[in-house]
Amino acid sequence: MNVQLTGLSDTVELRGGVHIPRLGLGVFRAAAGGETRAAVTAALAAGYRHIDTARVYGNEADVGAGLRASGLDREQVFVTTKLWNDDHGYRRTLDAFEASRRRLGLDYVDLYLVHWPVPGLRLDTWRAMEHLLESGRVRAIGVSNYMTRHLDELLANAEQPPAVNQIELSPYNYRSRRDVVDLCRSAGIAVEAYSPLTKGSKLTDPPLVHVADSHGVSTAQVLIRWGLQKGLVELPKSTRPQRIAANADVYGFDLTAEEMVTLDSLDEGLVTGWDPTHAP
Ligand SMILES: NC(=O)c1ccc[n+]([C@@H]2O[C@H](COP(=O)([O-])OP(=O)(O)OC[C@H]3O[C@@H](n4cnc5c(N)ncnc54)[C@H](OP(=O)(O)O)[C@@H]3O)[C@@H](O)[C@H]2O)c1
Repeated sequence: MNVQLTGLSDTVELRGGVHIPRLGLGVFRAAAGGETRAAVTAALAAGYRHIDTARVYGNEADVGAGLRASGLDREQVFVTTKLWNDDHGYRRTLDAFEASRRRLGLDYVDLYLVHWPVPGLRLDTWRAMEHLLESGRVRAIGVSNYMTRHLDELLANAEQPPAVNQIELSPYNYRSRRDVVDLCRSAGIAVEAYSPLTKGSKLTDPPLVHVADSHGVSTAQVLIRWGLQKGLVELPKSTRPQRIAANADVYGFDLTAEEMVTLDSLDEGLVTGWDPTHAP
């Protein structure tokens, strides 16, 4: 993978040649309507070029509206949305994609992800994802919350392997999930980190505060910088313009190798949301 660490134009080349910005705004729990539109507007004004939404977040239409209001060209912004769990199966996946695309108000979606490895139907679902890729209505396809057993099954059956796996990752669970990250790397699957700020739960953790203080930055900035230096795509969420801007201001300092080891040692298997570890 071609990786650069040079600011908000920082991208990774996905399978198939599509470039994804390595910092994106997450909009989970950003309320539909003005809150999401304002967050997207603030992010695009601050230089973000990547927004991560999902059908289940209920704010796809507001993401599209924020993008159109920005005055940016469609090709300048990378938009991800996701297939929800009750939309699995070949036909339903095609219909759900079309409904998401219409809510977003976009001609195409940059990345469409299977949100969760729903048992039973997920290989049928993947055939529909491959069809969508071939149709050109989506530029890249991938998965989310896939652990090694789900990836092994998919890689053994897919004609088009996933370009991305989006999983919860921060220093507080990275070592525990190292097997998934290693498998993704060896299979050419880019890894996206969701809940990279631990949903705010670890931002006052003393060892993290110590690293932040020594660089004169915030603990949120350290967590995002850590993920970028690990080669992850980072998806911090905020609806506050100041935090949105600060979370992208992470290209003016480097964490040392020693600090990266210290941060890695904070692993406690943290799960802030749902846990796919035992999903069948
Ligand atoms: N695929 C999946 O299953 C999945 C699951 C979860 C999340 N995600 C994606 O990943 C994105 C991020 O994950 P997340 O929303 O769970 O959590 P997160 O980004 O780890 O944390 C968000 C929380 O941190 C706060 N925050 C943001 N910046 C801050 C700062 N600089 N200082 C202090 N607090 C700050 C936010 O509050 P304010 O908004 O008030 O600033 C919010 O409460 C989601 O929005 C979504 O796009 C995907």
